[in-house]
Parts: sequence; C-alpha cells; structure tokens
Amino acid sequence: MSNVECRIMIDASHLFKSFGHTHAVEDVSLRVKAGEIYGLVGSDGAGKTTTLRLLVGALKADAGEIAVCGFDVRKQGEQARAHIGYLSQRFSLYEDLTVLENIRFFAEVRGLKADEWLPRCMEILEFVGLATYKDRRAGQLSGGMRQKLGLASALVTRPKVLLLDEPTTGVDPVTRQDFWQLIIRLVAPPSPAGSPTGVLRAGAGGEGEGVAILLTTPYMDEASRCTRVGFMRGGKIIVEGAPSELRATLEGRILEVRGPSLASLRQAAQNIDGVENVRAFGDKLHLRVVSGQADSVIAALAEAFPARAGSRVEARLVPPTLEDVFIALSVD
Ligand SMILES: Nc1ncnc2c1ncn2[C@@H]1O[C@H](COP(=O)(O)OP(=O)(O)OP(=O)(O)O)[C@@H](O)[C@H]1O
Ligand SMILES: [Mg+2]
Repeated sequence: MSNVECRIMIDASHLFKSFGHTHAVEDVSLRVKAGEIYGLVGSDGAGKTTTLRLLVGALKADAGEIAVCGFDVRKQGEQARAHIGYLSQRFSLYEDLTVLENIRFFAEVRGLKADEWLPRCMEILEFVGLATYKDRRAGQLSGGMRQKLGLASALVTRPKVLLLDEPTTGVDPVTRQDFWQLIIRLVAPPSPAGSPTGVLRAGAGGEGEGVAILLTTPYMDEASRCTRVGFMRGGKIIVEGAPSELRATLEGRILEVRGPSLASLRQAAQNIDGVENVRAFGDKLHLRVVSGQADSVIAALAEAFPARAGSRVEARLVPPTLEDVFIALSVD
C-alpha cells in the first residue's frame, strides 16, 4: 500500500446502528488521516462509544462502509484490526497480574511471539511512564496509572490507528497533561530511528507519518487540542471542524458579565431580549447572545443595574470557548 493510499486511515461513511428503537448511530461519516487527532464529543448517550465499536468491528453496522488503513472492516476484519489499537470506555485489566504481565497478556493475545513482546513491552512501559511500576499488581494502580496501562496495552501491536474511548475520564489534571503529551508524541512525525517513539511507531503509517487517533472526551480543554472535533447528538455528527473554526461560529456572541450579586444578575440577564443562554463561571456569568445584539444586551444590563459606588456591573465580549460551542449545540 502506498503512502498516499494510507493517508486516510479511518474512512467511515453513512454508518447506522440501532438497538431496538434506539437509533444509537445515524448516518455518521468521518475520516481521520495519519497524524490527526479527531475528537468525538457529545452528551451522554450521544452515540460516541457505539461509533468507536463499529469502527473496531466489535459491533456490526446496520448500514454503511468502514475502511481502516484501506481494509474493509466487514470483509477484511482481521487485517483491519491488526492496525487498530482500541482502548474501550470500560476496559478491564487483570487485577492480580502485574503491569508487565498485563501487557504481556495483551501482546500474546495479539499474536506477538515471546522474543518480540518483552523488548516491546518495556519500550511501551517506558513511553507511558510505567517502567518503574512494571512489577506492581494492576489492582494496586491509581486511576491515572490504570489508564496509562490501558494505553500501553492498546499500543502493543504498534497500531497505525488508535481508538481511545474517554481515555482520561476521572484522571487528575496533571496526569491528563501527561497523557496528552503521549498522544501528541504518537501523532507527531516519527523521531529519528532508535529513539523510543521512533521504535514504537516503526509500523505506523508510511515514512514520516504518525498514528491516526480518534478519541472521545468529556473535557473541552482536551477537545481544543484535537486537530478536528465532531459534535455528536442523537446519534449524528451535527457539527465538525477544527476547534478554531467551531469557536468562530460564536464570535461576537459571548459576553462575560461581572457584578456584585450574580444571582440577581442572572435573573435579570435571563429576561433581556437577545440573551439565549446564561451560565455561571465561578465569579462571573457567560451570556450567549443573538448575533448582532451584544451592544443592546450590554445597554440593557447597564440600565437594569445603574452604576453605584462599589456595585458596578461589567459586561464585555470575550472570545468563545469550545465549551460555549458545546453548550450551544447541546441544549438548543
Ligand atoms: N448494547 C446496547 N444495547 C442497547 N442499547 C445500547 C447499547 N449500547 C448503547 N446503547 C444505547 O445507544 C445510545 C448511544 O450509546 P453510546 O454508549 O454510544 O453513547 P455515548 O455517547 O458513548 O455516551 P457516554 O458519553 O455516556 O459514554 C444510548 O441510548 C445507549 O443507551
Ligand atoms: Mg461512551
């Protein structure tokens, strides 16, 4: 397979999957290239996990086409899966086995020979920062360490495509940062031969290609780090784009408001024409306003809260965040 053919690593079109009357996935199409991190976000039950399970072939689609690295997941499932590393939302480790034994287990299940798995397991454990814990029982790992071991297990076959279902949910912010450093290293162009990441990705893509990653996350700061983000709702990807493109859709429509009493400010804001949504953000409010009405909303707030000494209400346009976009797409 040439580089060009391999650049689109995940190519899914018009996927449908129902469970009884539940339309879990409805007409989902997505493409992920080598070196891309595609973030699938959406509320609980939006269809993210089902989409990933269809892509890995754990579920059979009612309709639609899926190719991974050029292999049809339905007709050439084994070849396709040979290129996929999958971390499921509720993956299980063998609690009584050590870290190293767990990875060895995954390696052997995936058909690696004894002389292949040991050096590779150690390399991967170094990569995810668990080498010093290799003899600890999985049942005694912290939540973050468990997730890293899950990632390590998904990497054992040197996959070209990684499907990670909420890899960082419930993990502390520092460990989430560590996790993202790993993800970024996986999609970056390979480092010179011999370095850990280069060896790790020896099988990835063509020359000069990183891994293609499709992940789900409930954290908008993580979605912001993706190359592209797809918002799922009711089984559909309703919006897709680069984080900057998505934020641009709300440009000029998010007001940050501060004042002495957030409760009364909130109540007043909800009744102002042109205000679509009000959310508390610590000691301030975020108002989403109808396009072109920011000035009139600011004027209405000033009228409702005349300036008095020590009780000034401040309202200003701020750059939209992905969280603003997410809320707008979820509740409207
Ligand atoms: N095996 C199943 N049998 C029946 N219904 C299912 C099954 N798997 C998922 N569903 C339903 O399909 C819909 C989509 O579920 P899915 O797990 O894909 O959502 P999700 O976006 O991953 O949610 P979450 O953010 O909570 O993980 C939900 O209504 C869910 O209840
Ligand atoms: Mg899920």
